[in-house]
Amino acid sequence: QELQGHVSIILLGATGDLAKKYLWQGLFQLYLDEAGKGHHFSFHGAALTAPEQGQGVLAKVLESLSCPKDVAPDRCAELKGQFQRLSQYRQLKTPEDYLALSKDIEALVQREGLREAGRIFYFSVPPFAYADIARSINSSCRPGPDAWLRVVLEKPFGHDYLSAQQLAEELGSFFQEEEMYRVDHYLGKQAVAQILPFRDQNRKALDGLWNRHHVERVEVVLKETLDAEGRTSFYEEYGVIRDVLQNHLTEILTLVAMELPRDASSSTAVLQHKLQAFRALRGLRRGSAVLGQYQAYSEQVRRELHKPDGFQSLTPTFAGILVHVDNLRWEGVPFILMSGKALDERVGYVRVLFKNRAFCAQSEKQWVGDRSRCLPQQIVFYIGHGELGSPAVLVSRTLFRPTLPAGSWKELEARPGLQLFGHPLSDFYAYGPVREQDAYSTLISHIFRGRKDSFITTENLLASWVFWTPLLEGLAHEAPRLYPGGAENGHLLDFEFRGSELAFCLQQPEQLVPGPGS
Ligand code: BG6
Repeated sequence: QELQGHVSIILLGATGDLAKKYLWQGLFQLYLDEAGKGHHFSFHGAALTAPEQGQGVLAKVLESLSCPKDVAPDRCAELKGQFQRLSQYRQLKTPEDYLALSKDIEALVQREGLREAGRIFYFSVPPFAYADIARSINSSCRPGPDAWLRVVLEKPFGHDYLSAQQLAEELGSFFQEEEMYRVDHYLGKQAVAQILPFRDQNRKALDGLWNRHHVERVEVVLKETLDAEGRTSFYEEYGVIRDVLQNHLTEILTLVAMELPRDASSSTAVLQHKLQAFRALRGLRRGSAVLGQYQAYSEQVRRELHKPDGFQSLTPTFAGILVHVDNLRWEGVPFILMSGKALDERVGYVRVLFKNRAFCAQSEKQWVGDRSRCLPQQIVFYIGHGELGSPAVLVSRTLFRPTLPAGSWKELEARPGLQLFGHPLSDFYAYGPVREQDAYSTLISHIFRGRKDSFITTENLLASWVFWTPLLEGLAHEAPRLYPGGAENGHLLDFEFRGSELAFCLQQPEQLVPGPGS
């Protein structure tokens, strides 16, 4: 009911990289999914760029949009044409420009003979521009009292606890909490978005397993082959922890660690339980972190930021962090977060490894009996890339046969020769999405539906910074260890975990870097 009527979507930064690469495609997907259900839209691409130039860029972007594979070319051209007619560019600079936009939307809604359902402002602009835009929207471009306002914000959301709090306070003076949608695009990745539904649908099987008695460790891993070249001015200020651990990987960790609400479809309950998980994270000590920097990084910084010869950056491009969740369920279970640039492979996954020592008195290699019983039992939310190339949910066949939503997830066929974590795919019940969808398309659909549990609330954001800030401050003046970087030299950068010892391995096994606690 609430959704019927006219929805205007204003994309700020409409000619920028993120918009060109993902956001227009996400808006087009929203149009394809929803227009047939009686919703009416207008799309307003806005930027500081002068109108003629902006229109030119927008026209090119709209031309490059694609339809899902099952849409025939003629039909696709027709749909694109409709979407193009509903999309227009406008220059938005001053509060008067915002007022003019508001009046135009009102006039458009009236012409259509509809009521206004709501307005979405997507901030795809640098954070320094946030305050002025927020002020202009608040003063001159809010919809009438019967329609909703949603503002969508992109990271970075601060640099540490204090800056995040200041930014949150500033935004809070213009918008209500329920109006703000802070994006963490990892929450829109299909395998990540499946963690809670999977836990919910398999409650019975997981009930006794999802705890310290049965889980040996949890790994949340995002390995990248790309380095920071071309982005060093951003990267120098942020580094790997602020760039991906404080947000993407911690969000994922809390989805695994949080208590499952009785009603997992309630956004409020999910967000509250998630907040409890954030608050249960044990404070990090220096010994909880292993940091690295790929060798070419400082040279790239010198070149791009015109630093003097001999300048050595202290920014980590790799981090492995050992996290503990201080509650009864997870007492003693290591959660390992790991990410880095210029590594040997691009892959992302969350792996819950179960204890099955009972079957594994000897090491795997020496095992002579039924070897399959000795393999670690695991549940993997495979975010993508890597060997498999696409998102998947995998469950060791020796655990249980899971339920995944029929229609949106299908069983994967075992591919000959494909090994994942040392197992052939046939060792897992393996599922992949029926239709692969980009994270931004998923999130845009959730914004439209008002599903707040896919976004970061102010409380959750600040709780995450409370957790990370002391470690970041403690590390500010420490030089990370160097690693060669690049896939071509086939270097190994991985962690080893045996018993209670954790170590990260840089390049050669003999160059083991001392890990937490050692
Ligand atoms: C971004 C980081 O948030 O996530 C990048 O700023 C990182 O440094 C990226 O490369 C990874 O996201 P994806 O979707 O490419 O895996």
